Amino acid sequence: MTTYGPETTTDEVLLGHDLTGRHFMITGASSGLGEESSRALAQAGATVTMLARNQSKLDTAIERIKSSNPSAILNTGIVDLSDQQSIRDYAQEFLATGVTIDVLINNAGVMVCPYSKTVDGIEMQFGTNHIGHFLLTNLLMPAILAGTNPRIVNLSSAGHTHSDVNLDDPNFEKCEYNAWESYGRSKSANIHFTQEIVHRYGDRIQSFAVHPGVIMTELGRHLTPELMSEMTERVKSRSTSSSEAKETGALPFKSVEAGAATQVWASVTEDLAENNGAYLGDCQLGVEGGNPSESGYLPYIFNRDTAEALWSLSEELVKQEFPKST
Ligand SMILES: NC(=O)c1ccc[n+]([C@@H]2O[C@H](COP(=O)([O-])OP(=O)(O)OC[C@H]3O[C@@H](n4cnc5c(N)ncnc54)[C@H](OP(=O)(O)O)[C@@H]3O)[C@@H](O)[C@H]2O)c1
Repeated sequence: MTTYGPETTTDEVLLGHDLTGRHFMITGASSGLGEESSRALAQAGATVTMLARNQSKLDTAIERIKSSNPSAILNTGIVDLSDQQSIRDYAQEFLATGVTIDVLINNAGVMVCPYSKTVDGIEMQFGTNHIGHFLLTNLLMPAILAGTNPRIVNLSSAGHTHSDVNLDDPNFEKCEYNAWESYGRSKSANIHFTQEIVHRYGDRIQSFAVHPGVIMTELGRHLTPELMSEMTERVKSRSTSSSEAKETGALPFKSVEAGAATQVWASVTEDLAENNGAYLGDCQLGVEGGNPSESGYLPYIFNRDTAEALWSLSEELVKQEFPKST
């Protein structure tokens, strides 16, 4: 396995890769890690379908990419992951084209927003980060299964350590809303979803969950001083390997190019053939009990019963069953 680390960038991961003819679809491609992944993959020759909910933000991201690579092959699609009808409309339109998907990167995300609900009445972070991607992925599954060596990469986070999913009260109706706990639930859901894809599709699809690191992007748009202090305390209590983080709650910030590297690595590397379903961070395999800011994870993310139960709950919430593949 090639050795990479926290500072490895997208372009370094893609060195020597010719992605001509491979089709990547990326949600949340209008900014941050989604835009950088799109740029880097297109630079390596891939055809990239960039999905976003805001057309003008997406157009601006495409202009930025085209300014450095005029021949980038970029398609676009408008999908609001907090609106199931929008997801259904896009999936129907896409499937009608007959185009296949080699790699789907479920990258879009919202973090610590004030309490609100999606169009379909689901708490916003769980509804967008997990349920939206659950529905989109399953609707697009015929195109993914028809892809070449297909992969599904789900953006998770060290934030999974804030909380496992809560299958009894996904909308915070029986307990008080806590924005970090909600983010944690949604990011744990991204990992359970990865596990269940692997369980259901076996060798037909490779799927990985990714912690990208800590990167200054628009993800922090809802952060308040109170939420920052709460995060500092949470980081102090969960840090295992860095004494500085234990004492100060300091986070190891990365560039956007290094932040997007792990999801790009998960999308292209051949090094993970024996590790289908793995949790990844810093372009490496995750480490149980390790520092979450790096690639550490808590063991509950690999609980089989939770993965199955989350799938069932997700089916209820999208009012559609996606039976186990035969
Ligand atoms: N940055 C970090 O430190 C960090 C750490 C751990 C995990 N992550 C994960 O990495 C992923 C990418 O985050 P980022 O840092 O690149 O953040 P970002 O710059 O805010 O990008 C998030 C993207 O998701 C889109 N999005 C949000 N809600 C959506 C919705 N309802 N429908 C469709 N698209 C929606 C955003 O579009 P709009 O701009 O239109 O809202 C944006 O394009 C997220 O899943 C995040 O949880 C990031």
